Amino acid sequence: MSPSSSPASPMAMLLVSMLAISSFLTIAHGGNFYQDCRVAWGDGRGKIINDQLLILSMDKYSGSGFESKNEYLYGKIEMQIKLIPGNSAGTVTTFFLRSQGPAHDEIDFEFLGNVSGQPYVVHTNVFTQGKGDREQQFYLWFDPTKDFHTYSIIWNPQHVIFAVDGIPLRDFKNLESRGVPFPKNQPMKVYSSLWNADDWATMGGSMKTDWTQAPFTASFRNFNADACVWSSGRSRCSSGRSKAPASANEAWWTDGLSPMRYRRMRWVQRKYVIYDYCADRKRFPRRSSPECRRL
Ligand SMILES: *[C@@H]1O[C@H](CO)[C@@H](O)[C@H](O)[C@H]1NC(C)=O
Repeated sequence: MSPSSSPASPMAMLLVSMLAISSFLTIAHGGNFYQDCRVAWGDGRGKIINDQLLILSMDKYSGSGFESKNEYLYGKIEMQIKLIPGNSAGTVTTFFLRSQGPAHDEIDFEFLGNVSGQPYVVHTNVFTQGKGDREQQFYLWFDPTKDFHTYSIIWNPQHVIFAVDGIPLRDFKNLESRGVPFPKNQPMKVYSSLWNADDWATMGGSMKTDWTQAPFTASFRNFNADACVWSSGRSRCSSGRSKAPASANEAWWTDGLSPMRYRRMRWVQRKYVIYDYCADRKRFPRRSSPECRRL
């Protein structure tokens, strides 16, 4: 059932990243947990094991979390994650971007655990200027607890794309032309956490966290931010007046969905969507949000 070919030619990707590394030092390339992240809470339950591996754990008393040291304004942020094996019901593991202050912007991946053998749910949401209510949920086409998989947020002036192993799940387009605010002015940090949410996460809160299984652990590998770093009021990939990265070659900067990637996203949306706010007539009886309407 998995899509047949790789998402982009490896050679092209290699070329793009080599180019980028050699000539655009203002953009944070690659990444490393020691250098780019800090464990933010959890009293020792979150640990950086080495520059490429970080573990979060949770027991009855606390979960844990980490965050990036930098704030970013646009970028491609990715991480490989191996979710909690076995009975993870009630737990939520997150990977998201969020700005500070009121009327914040936020781009969320949340992974809702389940009892052994039952599927994890990937919950996504986009907040712009403090307004969310844009949930879409998916099953995955693999067991995310067996191996590391790559979860990406591609954020450029026209799109916010959520992808798993390079396959897009969701594309939140810039539709300011229809009056939908788009995240474009507020820099965001990257956050990840593992916490207890057994009041809602699994089967509407009916499956509780089984604390006899604690500690629960999720592993994070290869943090990577090809992103514009925000510092003292400006984005460090700005070149002159334009906000574009010095290199127009940055694939993520121009990334929309090619016809092939669009077809892949449609495949995911046909087979794996389990909740879509755009189709929720009970919750939004009068009309769906403007971004839900087809052009
Ligand atoms: C857990 O498994 C049940 C049964 O397969 C499923 O209905 C549900 O969507 C799964 N995930 C969550 C987070 O509840």
